[in-house]
Amino acid sequence: MKRIYMDNNATTAVRPEVLDAMLPFYREQFGNPSSVHWAGRAVSGAVEKAREQVAQLINCSPAEIVFVSCGSEGDNMALKGTVDALRDKGDHIITTTVEHPAVLETCKALEKQGVRVTYLPVDHNGMLNLAELEAAITDKTILISVMWANNETGNLYPIEEIGAIARKYKVRFHTDAVQAVGKVPVDVQKANVDLLVLSGHKLGAAKGVGAIYIRRGTRLTPFMHGGHQERGRRAGTHNVAGIVGLGVACELAGAHLEAEATRIRALRDRLEQGILERVPEIKLNGHPDPNLRLPNTLNVSFAYIEGESLLLNFDMKGIAASSGSACTSGSLEPSHVMGAMCVDVVLAHSSTRFSLGADNTEEDVDYVLEVLPPIVQRLREMSPLYNRAEPLSCKECQVIRKVH
Ligand SMILES: Cc1ncc(COP(=O)(O)O)c(C=O)c1O
Repeated sequence: MKRIYMDNNATTAVRPEVLDAMLPFYREQFGNPSSVHWAGRAVSGAVEKAREQVAQLINCSPAEIVFVSCGSEGDNMALKGTVDALRDKGDHIITTTVEHPAVLETCKALEKQGVRVTYLPVDHNGMLNLAELEAAITDKTILISVMWANNETGNLYPIEEIGAIARKYKVRFHTDAVQAVGKVPVDVQKANVDLLVLSGHKLGAAKGVGAIYIRRGTRLTPFMHGGHQERGRRAGTHNVAGIVGLGVACELAGAHLEAEATRIRALRDRLEQGILERVPEIKLNGHPDPNLRLPNTLNVSFAYIEGESLLLNFDMKGIAASSGSACTSGSLEPSHVMGAMCVDVVLAHSSTRFSLGADNTEEDVDYVLEVLPPIVQRLREMSPLYNRAEPLSCKECQVIRKVH
């Protein structure tokens, strides 16, 4: 059976060049980079090289990069570290309703400690109103946290404009760029970002490594206490092999960013157009302009069908896609992102994400286009909702096409 992986927003395969670079650090170069002897020195050079490679991809100085274990740790560190460091300045955070749980759940935990959080709503396309963001800023606002790209819809947020607003009001700006780094250009200077988080396993490096950019001079209380690694910013022995791999993955991403984005965008657009042409009664979730989404992401609802049954049927045909984010699948609740966009609950349940990656080809897309329509048709015929008299309606979304 064919195996087609279109769930790259959940995780990516480790790139062969990355694995090759990592392996020596599990074998002969096993030293601890904090050790002063030969074994440590050999390894600390490799960690510093990786720091330069990561810094180069997002246009900052290597000294502004701190290695962490994953995107979730970076987001926790950014939010909790800011609240603790800026307690004397204020107690208010502004974020959005469509953030990843790494940010949303951290905000909820902070609320329990008395922090006030404004969760900005989004429109039916999942986009923010920047006037509302600006209006939410008070003299107690210490942080704006808006993701660079949404993991479910692929929507890209206007980070440069938000950075300009943050600068105007002298409010610290954090962006969860876990889905953006390696897929679209990310420049922390242009965007006026103070804190940015990325995660290795989303861009062809291993799981268990990530990084946070901390603009020089940004006060941030450490989240992990212990040794003095990472200049006191993050305790814990380095995941050397993971860090080396992250460096290589960043270098590769930077070298091929434009070409790879163009290639993957063409595949995604072929998939999107193909589904629109072949399957009636669907709704595209996210911004209708594909250029305002990550080049690799397509999120579609197939009316009257449970996303999970669709995924199981895809799986039987060797296709890996996702309904909502991987972290929340297993829950029966529709995704909070679909909820924030006011997607009809029936459509939200059938929301399916295809996230393409380095290994996908035109043949993969054509295979999905071949097997998808009959699966959808079969599942609809089994659905009691499909046979009801009134066609499903969605007040404000134009994309759903009522055909039957
Ligand atoms: C937007 C976003 N932020 C944060 C995370 C968490 O990253 P990690 O899995 O490295 O903890 C994810 C993972 O899916 C994500 O998509």
